[in-house]
Amino acid sequence: MSETIVVAGATGYVGRHVVEALDARGYRVLALVRSQERAEAPGPFGAPSLRGRVAEWKVVDYSDSTTLRGVCEGAGRLVSALGVTRQNASPWDIDFLGNLRLLEDAERHGLASFLYVNVLHSESGTSLTMRSKHAFAEALRRSRVAGQIVNPSGYFSDVTDFLLMAKKGFGFTLGDGTAKVNPIHGADLAEFIVEHLAEPSASWDVGGPDTLTYRELEELAFRIAGRRQRILRVRPGILRPLQWAADRSSPRVSNLTRFFLESLRIDAVGTPTGDRRLEPYLRAIHQPPAGNMRSPSLWVEKY
Ligand SMILES: NC(=O)c1ccc[n+]([C@@H]2O[C@H](COP(=O)([O-])OP(=O)(O)OC[C@H]3O[C@@H](n4cnc5c(N)ncnc54)[C@H](OP(=O)(O)O)[C@@H]3O)[C@@H](O)[C@H]2O)c1
Repeated sequence: MSETIVVAGATGYVGRHVVEALDARGYRVLALVRSQERAEAPGPFGAPSLRGRVAEWKVVDYSDSTTLRGVCEGAGRLVSALGVTRQNASPWDIDFLGNLRLLEDAERHGLASFLYVNVLHSESGTSLTMRSKHAFAEALRRSRVAGQIVNPSGYFSDVTDFLLMAKKGFGFTLGDGTAKVNPIHGADLAEFIVEHLAEPSASWDVGGPDTLTYRELEELAFRIAGRRQRILRVRPGILRPLQWAADRSSPRVSNLTRFFLESLRIDAVGTPTGDRRLEPYLRAIHQPPAGNMRSPSLWVEKY
């Protein structure tokens, strides 16, 4: 019988591509989800539906450890793409504690490895998201289960926001926008993950084939949107008062502001991986096929 791989965060952008890649390679997938119904519908940004790709479903609540006990029983390995991005939850509760509870179960059942989708530069970020992710990566390094840590630069799904803003005729950069990023497609990242599944403990920085400055990313988005370029250059001097104000708002606003301001300021470039290019992806998002006009982010399958 084929090896069972537990996938946490299976309904997310990366998680869906991981399930698809595992299933295509003949693995038996056990998906941890909040809603099977949602998992079986197509995901955003062209991420696939999980219908027919999952051998076993488990509905879990990461704040209730009783729902996580035994999820690894009989499995060989675990891949976690679990993390708070657009959800309204504390990264500490999900990225750190949720993954830690999974790791405890993986240790209890003697899994061969735990592959964690972290983020580039989590060790130096000061947002709660970065601190939570780094804290879990450190816990994984000290586990008796082999820990594989993948540090992606950024995803095509997130770059979509630049296009959506450009379509509204607006963009911005921090300072000159000279920090660089090489975003990766979810399917390319999933292929990397599945190829490295059986390797011993390791850590990899990965990105996509195109490296651009944020300024170039904005210009590309305006070119594709066909709008006159209006890119606001945010002066670095405004960052501290902006963060000060955000810190006095909600914990969520404070964290997101810190996360994005830090991300836009430093290079996030991982080893180029995969061959899916950013420009055709964005062009496809911009001009969805007839019949899919209402939800452009839902259909992009091939880019
Ligand atoms: N986006 C980027 O550019 C980027 C770059 C580098 C690293 N990363 C990291 O890569 C990982 C995957 O990112 P992604 O873009 O695939 O994220 P995503 O689409 O938001 O998926 C995250 C997954 O975690 C689950 N999750 C989040 N909050 C939850 C909660 N409160 N309770 C239960 N489940 C919860 C989601 O479940 P639901 O579907 O039920 O919400 C989903 O399955 C994340 O850890 C992220 O931090 C992201």
